[in-house]
Amino acid sequence: MSRSAHPAGPRHADVYPEGHYTAPATDLNELDPKVWSRTVTRDADGALTVGGIEVARLAEEFGTPAYFLDESDFRARCRAWSDAFGPDADVFYAGKAFLSRAVVRWLQEEGLNLDVCSGGELATALDAGMPAERIAFHGNNKTVAEIERAVEAGVGRIVLDSFQEIVRVAHVAQRLGVRQRVQIRVTVGVEAHTHEFIATAHEDQKFGIALADGLAAEAVRRALTLDGIELIGIHSHIGSQIFDMAGFEVSARRVVQLLAEVRDEHGVELPEIDLGGGLGIAYTSEDDPREPHEIAKALSDIVTRECESAGLRTPRISVEPGRAIVGPTAFTLYEVGTIKPLEGLRTYVSVDGGMSDNIRTALYDAEYSVALVSRSSDAEPMLVRVVGKHCESGDIVVKDAFLPSDLAPGDLIAVPATGAYCRSMASNYNHALRPPVVAVRDGEARVIVRRETEEDLLRLDVG
Ligand code: LLP
Repeated sequence: MSRSAHPAGPRHADVYPEGHYTAPATDLNELDPKVWSRTVTRDADGALTVGGIEVARLAEEFGTPAYFLDESDFRARCRAWSDAFGPDADVFYAGKAFLSRAVVRWLQEEGLNLDVCSGGELATALDAGMPAERIAFHGNNKTVAEIERAVEAGVGRIVLDSFQEIVRVAHVAQRLGVRQRVQIRVTVGVEAHTHEFIATAHEDQKFGIALADGLAAEAVRRALTLDGIELIGIHSHIGSQIFDMAGFEVSARRVVQLLAEVRDEHGVELPEIDLGGGLGIAYTSEDDPREPHEIAKALSDIVTRECESAGLRTPRISVEPGRAIVGPTAFTLYEVGTIKPLEGLRTYVSVDGGMSDNIRTALYDAEYSVALVSRSSDAEPMLVRVVGKHCESGDIVVKDAFLPSDLAPGDLIAVPATGAYCRSMASNYNHALRPPVVAVRDGEARVIVRRETEEDLLRLDVG
């Protein structure tokens, strides 16, 4: 583990845990537009509204905890990504960040493609009518049944992750009498500066085929000999929640080098490269993410430059943002249940959810922001740790943040930027019922994934 602190915080601290946890200079009622979705604002009474609807009304109608997804913000982000990359590139939304049938329809309407990484995600995409040719299928250990389903459906590409898979996909496709378009996922040897569990391009990990030692070149050699597959390009994904473009640039350069080697050895210019997803978003005001147009420009400049110097035609670029599209568009709404002040240390604020609806804090040491949203307050800031209702002390939603000191049970608080990898990684730990996802747009709110019920739980438990 790369974790440096005890998950529940420094064990023996009797003062504020770290020097920088001094009360913020900013007004706690302010909502930083970097971390909140675009239609979020406070109304004249100080209550937060999203899509024009006040949170108290949302809590009353849909209950808490619940995720509220700002649909117009989601759509605007899709458009920003596809406009930034333009008609000569493809944007695949990474469904693992959050996928539902409504989301699939929005993607179609906004002209995006979709990356899926399991039979379940593929089923959701197809059920919601995503044209198969706009789907890319990923995964480091796709089952034969998943491969068959993807090939039968006619997915636009399967991203091959291992030597075994090259043969497996080729056999399935041949048996089904088709030629499946594929890319090969390579690991380019970049150390992305992110949490160890979400970095994916260094060599000591399970994904992809290393460029090192000629392995990727060998994979290309084999793929080009098999009738069942048509190799259309090379894929690289270096990790997640990355702010620095340098890793992407190194990755693009190394992938282009491989294209040049392939041209020299086989006389074939592979027409596509996919640079994956992984662009960071703001979870707190301290994060400073890049805009899609900056990312698009940086990537296309580097690919064009490298291709020119290698004498290659510039391939079609694709990218796979997940978090950068859906992450900032949702917040989780909780009701405060209990408040436990620890003199000189911090105040524990327990909410009606926890690690079952947001595992990221416990799993990656992720940082989040939080705000009192059912009202505004001019009370002094107090240092809080927002915790859930689960039976373990690592059940932390927001590790260190400030809330007004007049916070009381029954207040609503919200954690922004929970659109990605929160509902999609939610669990039933302690038999928690996974919260609903409610889409809000232009004064209307509708459930797109309903709240789980005890019946749902008991239906799986066959007794
Ligand atoms: N493409 C590939 C091949 C991926 O493996 C991923 C994420 C993406 C695209 C999308 O990455 P994004 O743009 O969303 O960062 N559960 C972790 C993140 C795991 C990401 C896995 N792959 C988290 O909560 O941070």
